[in-house]
Amino acid sequence: METQIDYWQAHALLEWQIELGATEAIAEVPVNRYEVAAAAPTPVPDAPAAARRPAPPVVVAAKEVDPIEAAMALAKSATSLDALREAMAGFDLCDLKRGARNLVFSDGNPKARVMIIGEAPGREEDQQGKPFVGRSGQLLDKMFAAIGMDRTSPDTEHALYITNPIPWRPPENRDPTPAEIAMLKPFLIRHIELADPDVIVLMGNWACTALLGRAGITRLRGTWQTILGKPAMPMTHPAYLLRTPVAKREAWADLLDIQARLRSLT
Ligand code: URA
Repeated sequence: METQIDYWQAHALLEWQIELGATEAIAEVPVNRYEVAAAAPTPVPDAPAAARRPAPPVVVAAKEVDPIEAAMALAKSATSLDALREAMAGFDLCDLKRGARNLVFSDGNPKARVMIIGEAPGREEDQQGKPFVGRSGQLLDKMFAAIGMDRTSPDTEHALYITNPIPWRPPENRDPTPAEIAMLKPFLIRHIELADPDVIVLMGNWACTALLGRAGITRLRGTWQTILGKPAMPMTHPAYLLRTPVAKREAWADLLDIQARLRSLT
């Protein structure tokens, strides 16, 4: 026989559970509250007067979650690139995720000697779930092809591995906020640790902001930096080069510098 309890009995039971220390309601499977509400029996109107007295409100303090700490813990727990991708896909504390179609994790050969860090996905990248597949990406491919490197190469000497500091497309391609960059940085750091490249390329200002803590790419480009003990070359972003073709000459010099550094490290 189905037993029904009225509102005040349910209230008393809930208070009792809270006293026992049950402060969070977690079930095995998600509960659709709209369906539950529609199917729930209507409360019995004539509860005894004593049971109808208003109970003091139960206040359960919501736990504050620090998104940077949460990202750090999640990133640290990933022991492979696949695990990191999964961890990032499950990270719900960054609002950018809500507006994006896909997580843009990486492209290329994870064993490549060179890891390129870009900025953030645009429309095409968001659609395909891969970094640098639009116009900037085509230029990026041409630039590295000029020094014999290619993201599709199975040969680690000639391969590229590509990611972004921001894995979800910002709405209207707006700049990420410092809070978003800081929140996603633990994933980027772990990404570099797991891919373990010989040389890092910082493509544009956001990569420099995320990893060097400063922007100013026109000054930084062409100057070797160190990130996690690895040589890192800041370069002007291909999107900038598309707008400012005259800057391609400096970018070419940076590419040759990267090639020379790779040779010197072998
Ligand atoms: N620009 C970037 O920096 N990254 C992408 O993935 C696409 C364009």
